Amino acid sequence: MRILRTKAEVRAAVHEARSGGEATGLVPTMGALHEGHLSLIRRARADNDLVVVSLFVNPTQFGANEDLGAYPRDEHRDAALAEAAGADILFAPPVAEIYPDGFATSIHVSGITEVLCGAHRGPAHFDGVATVVAKLFQIVAPDAAYFGQKDAQQVLVIRRLVRDLDIPVRVVACPIVREPDGLAMSSRNAYLNPAARQQATALNRALDAAESAVARGETRADAILERARAVLATAEIDPEYLELRDPEDLRELDAVETTALLAVAAQVGKARLIDNRILSASR
Ligand code: PAF
Repeated sequence: MRILRTKAEVRAAVHEARSGGEATGLVPTMGALHEGHLSLIRRARADNDLVVVSLFVNPTQFGANEDLGAYPRDEHRDAALAEAAGADILFAPPVAEIYPDGFATSIHVSGITEVLCGAHRGPAHFDGVATVVAKLFQIVAPDAAYFGQKDAQQVLVIRRLVRDLDIPVRVVACPIVREPDGLAMSSRNAYLNPAARQQATALNRALDAAESAVARGETRADAILERARAVLATAEIDPEYLELRDPEDLRELDAVETTALLAVAAQVGKARLIDNRILSASR
C-alpha cells in the first residue's frame, strides 16, 4: 500500500489504473479505523481493481464546540489496518492540501440537511461533509464510493450531492457493523468509560424494542417511539433526537406504512453517539 499526500500523486495513480481499464473504489474516512470502516474497505476491494482509502479529519464539518481537537488520530495504526483490509493507496493529505489559503467555496445541500443531525449540529456540519466529499470525488474520480449506513443522513446527503451535481460515482451504502453487545461501531466509542460503554448499549436495544413493536403490527409513530424512549429512559439516556422519518427524503412520519428510518442521537458520557434502523411494516 502506498501512502500519498498530494492531489497530484493520487490523480496520477488513478489515471494510470483507469488507462489500464481498472475500476477504482474510494472509502472516505476520518481515520480511527474500526471494523465498520474495514467492512467498507473489504467491500471496495471485492468490487474494484484499485482501492483508495482517504484519511482526513475534515475540520469544516466540526462545530466550534465539537471534538476536532480531541478526535482520535493514529495514522500508523490506520495505515496498517487499511492495508490488511485491502487498500492499495492511503490518501492522507495535510489540511493545506485540501483547504489551501484563500479557499472560499462551500456546498450546501438543502432540505434533508435541516433535520436530525443537521438541526442539532448546525448547517455547517453537512456543508463541511458535502464540500470535502465533493473534493475527494474530484481528486480521486472513483467509479464507486463506500459509506456506512450508520450515518444514514450523511448517505442521503451524498446521494443528493452526486445526483444534483451530476458526479459520475456510484454511492454504495454498507450495513452497520455492531459490537457483540449491539453497540454500533464508531470512532467516538473510544471516548466511553466502562460505565458509559455499558449505558450506550441501550441505543441498539431501543431500536430493537421499536422494531419488535412494528413486527407485532404496531404502525403508529408515537407508540413505536414510546417503546424506544422507554428503553433509553431505563438507561438514563435523554436522546438529542429520536425520530421516525421517511428513509428517502427524511419527511417526518406519523405511521410506518411501508418502511421508515428510526434515527437516534444521544450524548452518552463523553461521546455523542448516533444509530438507526430501517423499520419495515409487517404485512
Ligand atoms: O463519515 C465520515 O467519516 C466523514 O463524514 C467523511 C465522509 C469521511 C467526510 O469527512
